[in-house]
Amino acid sequence: MASWKFIAVSTVCVFVFLSGNISGLDNGLVLTPPMGWLAWERFRCNTDCKNDPENCISDRLFRTMTDILVTEGYTAAGYEYINVDDCWLERERDERGRLVPDRERFPYGMKSLADYVHSKGLKFGIYEDYGNFTCAGYPGVVGHLSGDATTFASWGVDYVKLDGCYALPTDMDYGYPEFGRQLNLTGRQMVYSCSWPVYQIYAGLQPNFSSIIEHCNLWRNFDDIQDSWASVESIIDYYGNHQDVIVPNAGPGHWNDPDMLIVGNFGLSYEQSKTQFALWAILAAPLLMSVDLRTIRPEYKAILQNRKIIEVDQDPLGIQGRRIYKHRGIEIWSRPILPIQQGQFYSYAVAFVNRRTDGTPSDVAVTLRELGLSNPTGYRVEDLYEDVDYGVLSPQTKIKVKVNPSGVVILRADAQPGYAFNAITTRTPYTPLNDVFRLTKK
Ligand code: GLA
Repeated sequence: MASWKFIAVSTVCVFVFLSGNISGLDNGLVLTPPMGWLAWERFRCNTDCKNDPENCISDRLFRTMTDILVTEGYTAAGYEYINVDDCWLERERDERGRLVPDRERFPYGMKSLADYVHSKGLKFGIYEDYGNFTCAGYPGVVGHLSGDATTFASWGVDYVKLDGCYALPTDMDYGYPEFGRQLNLTGRQMVYSCSWPVYQIYAGLQPNFSSIIEHCNLWRNFDDIQDSWASVESIIDYYGNHQDVIVPNAGPGHWNDPDMLIVGNFGLSYEQSKTQFALWAILAAPLLMSVDLRTIRPEYKAILQNRKIIEVDQDPLGIQGRRIYKHRGIEIWSRPILPIQQGQFYSYAVAFVNRRTDGTPSDVAVTLRELGLSNPTGYRVEDLYEDVDYGVLSPQTKIKVKVNPSGVVILRADAQPGYAFNAITTRTPYTPLNDVFRLTKK
């Protein structure tokens, strides 16, 4: 295993960022990352309700998903938003310049759909685009900022994703804040999801993140997720390789969005699905499922409803985690979470990821101290998928985990209050010559 110096450096960086004072869009919304369901990755722009009535982008699809969110335990686990994406519109505005939902696929209009979602105790999200057209070619908001914001408010929209196709990236520094201002002027509180930085990065521009943080609740930095492990890996790599720029921008009310969860679809194995979910929690990512909740297999549903990992994602500190180790296909990602002991010792969620393809699980052995966990009174360590509590471990304890190929082990280490370590446990005395505390199920 390579040098652990990198960890020490990274841990220092975490604390530097903590002391930064980044304030975000002050609408009081999404103080923890939003959770919900979003149509795009799984259902795309299927408008063929004649031949595919159950899967086309339609009133029926969103009402069905609303019902399942409630009846199948997703709302109880924290999922709250039902979000429409592209392809909900008519191709033309009406004679007064207003947006019109597709008359056949949304025959009752968007207010009726939003009312239905609200009647189930959920919130309703919609999609638009700052440019002349949405990415799929439907009318965009440019030239109609005030009118469209008013329309959304009158329908009872709670969340707006504003895409950036058919727009000039140089216009976005004005356009995104201006549409946000128009949303605020309606008096209705709406979460504002921006694609502003990703289009600017594609155009070779340097996004102004302090302005993005000030005006948006969440934003995309990188490519659209697709239904493959390669796509998930490319996102993981992007967030790891650019973490010094990306991580400090996250915090309560303002989040980086690595895109939807594709757990339960066609492209990821069970191990890979667990990895996506664990890493999205480390990244303090919005948890927006894009999956057919009617047919999802129980083991994938269990991943999406894993309360302990959701709790990590929703940690109130809102500090995004980082990749602290990467060598020969093994990565360790770590996120500071509550509780904090003695004003300085954070608790952590730690994810061990195996990116290797050589077919057999890899052992990773490391002391808590090498991970940056140095609270002298120890940490209660728990495996968040295996549901095993390993008791209280001292910083000197060497832990050893087995990580499956393209899989993950995610632990939570809760810093213990300041009583004598030895007084509360006899389980893990540290004996330097033979102490390897195996984190495997007993
Ligand atoms: C862009 C966005 C996607 C989705 C599509 C819809 O590609 O990044 O998330 O909204 O547009 O056309």
